[in-house]
Amino acid sequence: MDGEAEIQAALKPLGIEYERWSLDRVPPDSCADAVLGAYAVEIEEMKRRGGYVTADVIDVNPATPNLEEMLARFDKEHTHDEDEVRFILSGRGIFFLVLDESVASVEVGPGDMLRVPRGTKHWFTLCEDRRIRAIRWFQATSGWTPHYTDSGVDTAYQPLCFGPAYLGQRVQAAFGPGQALGQKR
Ligand SMILES: [Fe+2]
Repeated sequence: MDGEAEIQAALKPLGIEYERWSLDRVPPDSCADAVLGAYAVEIEEMKRRGGYVTADVIDVNPATPNLEEMLARFDKEHTHDEDEVRFILSGRGIFFLVLDESVASVEVGPGDMLRVPRGTKHWFTLCEDRRIRAIRWFQATSGWTPHYTDSGVDTAYQPLCFGPAYLGQRVQAAFGPGQALGQKR
């Protein structure tokens, strides 16, 4: 599944918003302030849409100090009191979204904007190159606050990225009760 409309149609019933945004505004390795400036119009529009008050640029890569500890904060099932909104500038990762009794996995890469409603159980992991750079929006100035569920459901899924050559697999959504998609071990 690759086309924007097709992915939107698959995710909309799950309450998840997806858009493809242009990446030609600024070089992807520009400093955070340059990125925020280049996307100022989109950032302000998104703030109006979702009631967000602040945005920043998160940059995670193999040179990030304590990378594994940081990734361990993302890759356990959790919720937030606010939406999780990401526009991916570079790198790739997978969102696992828990929907009733099913799990949907969405691989995101450069140009993907994903908006996951508050309260959605989810976790996130990076693809093999261990890097992601993204704009984030927040409804509170306190920033990223996870509430871990400690359900252990995250341990049953392999963080397997297919990459841009396998876009057919990038959105997997299960709708039937009891179904679990993703890459279950
Ligand atoms: Fe999260």
